[in-house]
Amino acid sequence: MFDVTSTTDASADKPLRLFYALWPDETTRDALVALQMQQRGRRTKAHNLHVTLAFLGEQQIDRLHMLEEILAGLPQAPVRLSIDRIGYFKRKRIVWAGSHAVPEALITLQQSLTLSLVENGVEFDCSTDFTPHVTLARDAEPPLDAPFNTFHWEVTQVALVQSCQEHGQLTYHVLAKHWLLSN
Ligand code: 2AM
Repeated sequence: MFDVTSTTDASADKPLRLFYALWPDETTRDALVALQMQQRGRRTKAHNLHVTLAFLGEQQIDRLHMLEEILAGLPQAPVRLSIDRIGYFKRKRIVWAGSHAVPEALITLQQSLTLSLVENGVEFDCSTDFTPHVTLARDAEPPLDAPFNTFHWEVTQVALVQSCQEHGQLTYHVLAKHWLLSN
């Protein structure tokens, strides 16, 4: 079910650093990479690009089954995210891609996830409002005001992801997936 054995962080008692995310298909990933190329800063590796739904931080390995069940119980309503906006988190110096209008189905999906986490007693970072975004670059200057072609991300995959440091590199491992319906 979970492939945590292949990660360098795997051991029975070592907590795992986890988050839930919208996970891009290959076409969307390529479009995000093209956008990213216009930005200055430390670019996110292509295979790490995602939208975080909830950041859990360190969780004991024996909670994985419950966390997978939470994922499996999420709504499956289609989510179509228009990537039409480049934003900047000034304090964190992050350039991101996102949407001027967050679809209702995505808000419902994220609220359903956070409600489920609360009901199951899972602690997670709820310190900031949900601003769906793909981090394109860190340690970045404010974004260049370059035109780009809006594209639509038909979200198909929501993932439970483990964040690891491997050979000094930040690597994300998808542990489980939940599929959304398409329009
Ligand atoms: P960011 O892209 O805006 O930095 C994995 O670390 C993912 O979880 C990142 O996408 C990160 O968002 C997000 N995240 C949210 N809250 C976090 C926190 N308190 N610490 C680390 N990552 C966090």
